[in-house]
Amino acid sequence: MTRLRSADWYAGDDRNAYIHRAWMRRGLPADALDGSRPQIAIANTASDLTPCNRHLDEVAEHVARGVWEAGGVPHNLPVVSLGETQVRPTAMLWRNMAAMAIEEMLRANPIDGVVLLGGCDKTIPALLMAAASVDLPALVVPGGPMLTGTFRGTPLGCGTDVWRLSEEVRAGTLTSQGFLDSESSMIRSRGHCNTMGTASTMGLLAEALGMTLPGTAGIPAADSRLLAHAHASGRLAVDLVHAERRPSTVMTAESFHNAIVTLAATGGSTNAVVHLLAIAGRLGVPLCLDDFDRIGAGVPLLVDLQPAGRFLMEDLHRAGGLAAVLSEVPDLLSPAALSVTGAPFVSSLEGASIWDNSVIRPRADPVLPAAGIAVLRGNLAPAGAIIKPAAATPALLQHRGPALVFDSIEDFHARIDDPLLDVDASTVLVLRGCGPKGYPGMPEVSNMPLPEKLLRAGVRDMVRICDGRMSGTAYGTVVLHVAPEAAAGGPLNRIRTGDMIVLDVPGRTLTVDVPQAELDARPPSQALLDALARPTRGWERLYVDTVLGADTGADCSFLLGSSGPQVSRESH
Ligand code: FES
Ligand code: MG
Repeated sequence: MTRLRSADWYAGDDRNAYIHRAWMRRGLPADALDGSRPQIAIANTASDLTPCNRHLDEVAEHVARGVWEAGGVPHNLPVVSLGETQVRPTAMLWRNMAAMAIEEMLRANPIDGVVLLGGCDKTIPALLMAAASVDLPALVVPGGPMLTGTFRGTPLGCGTDVWRLSEEVRAGTLTSQGFLDSESSMIRSRGHCNTMGTASTMGLLAEALGMTLPGTAGIPAADSRLLAHAHASGRLAVDLVHAERRPSTVMTAESFHNAIVTLAATGGSTNAVVHLLAIAGRLGVPLCLDDFDRIGAGVPLLVDLQPAGRFLMEDLHRAGGLAAVLSEVPDLLSPAALSVTGAPFVSSLEGASIWDNSVIRPRADPVLPAAGIAVLRGNLAPAGAIIKPAAATPALLQHRGPALVFDSIEDFHARIDDPLLDVDASTVLVLRGCGPKGYPGMPEVSNMPLPEKLLRAGVRDMVRICDGRMSGTAYGTVVLHVAPEAAAGGPLNRIRTGDMIVLDVPGRTLTVDVPQAELDARPPSQALLDALARPTRGWERLYVDTVLGADTGADCSFLLGSSGPQVSRESH
């Protein structure tokens, strides 16, 4: 066996090894720190303020049992956590900071491998970005989705049904008391959102990337099988160290190919685009926005889950889970990609079956024949924009209509329900200044609520365009991640209310019907410039100064790539 990294701290008879061991002992058996046993960090995003991850402390205990059993030594390592619903202005502002802090703590400490415990939206992306940049043997245990809640006899999908019910109140078809009555039914158990939102998506994609023990992603948080998988993941972490199998060996271009196929087949969140690009950017894997369209566009949508469909994550697990989905499309997957077990990822699909083909549809009878993310370009989005056709209204996928432009989310809220607002169903709502630099942090505001007067008239969808993101639990004909963003000088900052916008999803274009010379000659909107964030210090300042566009994953320029696990100097 090659010398363990942690032996640089613990092995030997000198004063420094003495110090490293002595302070760590505290009841550990002496041989735990003799330099021969893999030291496994459990990077734990459990936090009372990340309620979707609160149960991860219990998951960590089961990981630790597996680590001990396999001859390693587990160490619980609480790391920066992000509660999607609570953190302002948006958890996305802190994803890169969390990834940076986790990376640095993994590198700085005497550990040989790491088990990554995440769940709520940004936590698995941040953990994977960190693991990629430190490149220590690592695997993920996704915390799992909540059980299905019900309200008045109907299942409630986290997030998705909040949007739906609040629109019903605005449309006058649900009382506000009825809306409030549903609140206590929404979150039924431990775990993350149970729709195919970002948390569910990133758990499944962690597995598709090869970074989980196969079969772990999608197990409901309250299901005891999650704890058994956590135990087995702890054992596997020790094996990974012995095999020196690192994130850079597991997450290859082929793995990202499999992740994109999975994203399409499951109808996953648009947020996965920025997260996968950011993870790839840490690994130096040449992934680009167009790969999502090229690889994913022809993949059938096989999973009928909210927000695009009907069911919830508990149903997906009952119906056979990720393996059953992907076993319908093995030919679309790369056989070369490995999982953390060391075997090809596709070998983990052998023997999988669909147990409920209303939840997981057979390939011959898909929810949609071609799902995936469409990447749009044109004079409104020279660096690209995305739309999820599966969550959109088919009739709006080719649309021409006048822009109604909002310079900030506050501007939007102030005017959208004005009865005198000049808007009809053909209007294209445009919200700008919501990109990574602009807001800052690229919040999930792109699925703008429709004008109340149109809702009451029965309008349920309109074309919307924004340089921000959309909650993975949302739906609608929403063009997202427009790049370059308005705050970075993108043409979005020069369009005006009344300009004709042309959306052509089949043709993959997003254009404004203004002569290019005229568009280029216009000054940027002053109201937009006035609304942009100008932080003077702290992380926000660093973020705004260094964050890159959504089209490359919205990472910070100085965080791209990997520094590896080396630390150059002793501390004493
Ligand atoms: Fe945590 Fe949805 S709010 S996963
Ligand atoms: Mg979200």
